[in-house]
Amino acid sequence: MKHKKVVLGVTGGIAIYKTLEVISMLKKLEVEVQVIMTRHAAQFIHPMTFEAMSGKRVLTDLFTLGEDSRIEHIEVAKTADLFVIVPATANIIAKMAHGIADDLLSTTLLATRAPLYVAPAMNTRMYEHASVQENLKILRDRGAGIIEPEAGRLACGDTGRGKLATPEDIVEVILFALEARDRLKGKRVLVTAGPTVEPIDPVRFISNPSSGKMGFEMARAARRLGAQVCLVAGPVTLKTPLGVERIDVTTSEEMYREVMARYDETDIVIKAAAVLDYRPQKVFEKKIKKEDIESSLPLERTRDILKTLGEHKKHQFLVGFAAQTHDVVAYAKEKIIAKHLDFMVANDVSRTSSGFRTDENEVYLITRDLQVTHVALNKKSIIAKEILEKIADMVE
Ligand SMILES: Cc1cc2nc3c(=O)[nH]c(=O)nc-3n(C[C@H](O)[C@H](O)[C@H](O)COP(=O)(O)O)c2cc1C
Repeated sequence: MKHKKVVLGVTGGIAIYKTLEVISMLKKLEVEVQVIMTRHAAQFIHPMTFEAMSGKRVLTDLFTLGEDSRIEHIEVAKTADLFVIVPATANIIAKMAHGIADDLLSTTLLATRAPLYVAPAMNTRMYEHASVQENLKILRDRGAGIIEPEAGRLACGDTGRGKLATPEDIVEVILFALEARDRLKGKRVLVTAGPTVEPIDPVRFISNPSSGKMGFEMARAARRLGAQVCLVAGPVTLKTPLGVERIDVTTSEEMYREVMARYDETDIVIKAAAVLDYRPQKVFEKKIKKEDIESSLPLERTRDILKTLGEHKKHQFLVGFAAQTHDVVAYAKEKIIAKHLDFMVANDVSRTSSGFRTDENEVYLITRDLQVTHVALNKKSIIAKEILEKIADMVE
C-alpha cells in the first residue's frame, strides 16, 4: 500500500469521530492520507486532531496557496489514487450531484478524476428524503461507489438507516479499490472455513479449535483479486468479508451438501475448513447420563469432502489445507496425490505462534509437481494474499 494516496474528504456530520479510526487503520497499512475538511467539519473536531492522525497538513481553505504558490486543490485532485468522503453529509452529496463548487472540498471533487467513494451518514429521515436518494442515484450512475450506511440507533436518538458504515468496512472498500486487480475476475471461488460441530445430545458436541480466520482471509483475498466468492463457514464469530456471499453450516454433513451443490459452477475450491473426521454414530434426542458416555461413545467417519471433490473433478482447481502436528510437508505431499489436488497449504498446528486461533501463520505451499515453498510467519491476511497470488499464477 506504500505510495498510494487517498484523499479523504471530511464533512460536518456527527459520525466524524469514526473518520479518525479510518485514518488510523490506513496509516498502519502505510497508505498516504490527505485530509480535506469542510468549514462545518472543523466545528465538530479541530483540524489539528486530523493533522496529528494523518501526519499531513489538513487542507480547509480554498484561498490558500500551497508550497511554491501551487494551486492546491488542482494539485491534490491530480495526484489522488482514490477520493473517499467519510462521513458524507446530505449537503456534500447534493453539491457533488449538481456540480456545486463553493469550498475547497467540493471544488477539488470537480477537478479530480480519481475513483470516488462516498460514505453517507445522517438522520434516517434525512437519508430517506427523496432528494438525498435521488442525489445518491446520480452519483451511483456516474460510477461513484456508495458505502451504504447501516441501520441502528443514531446519535439523535432515532432508530433506522443512516448510521455510518463501520471503519473496518470503509477501510475494506478503500483497500479493495486501491488493490483492485482483475486477476481472478470472472472466476467463481468457493472457500470453506472454520470448524464443524457434531452434536452428541442437546447439550454436548464434539468439535475442534479452528477459528476460521485463515479461511475468511482467503475469501477476502480472492474477492480483492476480483473473484466472485462464496464462503461456506462452520460456526465462527467472524464478520463476513465485504462482497462475499456467506453460507453458515454446523455439521460436516451440511458442509458437504452446500459444497457439492455448488461444485459444478465453481472454478476454484479452497478447502480451509477444519472438518471433523469423526462424529457420534448416534445423536441422542435427550441429554444422556455421564455414566453412559463414560462406558461408550461410538463414533463413525464423516464424509471426506476433499476426496469426493477430487474424485468428481472436471475443470476445477482444487486447493487443500493440511493441519498437522508433525511431518507437515511429507503428509501434505501424500494428500495432494491421494486426493487429486492442485495445490496444498500445509501448516504446523503444534506451535503456539501459528495455526489454530492465532492471527498469524507460517505455511508450506506444495504444488501438484511437489515443489515446496516456505512462507515465513506473518499475518494471516498477508499469507492469504500471497497464496491467492500464487493460485492466480496457476489458473491464468
Ligand atoms: C450536531 C449536528 C450534527 C449534524 N449531523 C449531521 C449528519 O450526521 N449528517 C448530515 O448530513 N448533516 C449533519 N448536520 C448538518 C450539517 O452539519 C450541515 O448540513 C452542514 O451545512 C454540512 O456542511 P458540510 O457538508 O459542508 O460539512 C449536523 C449538524 C449539527 C449541528
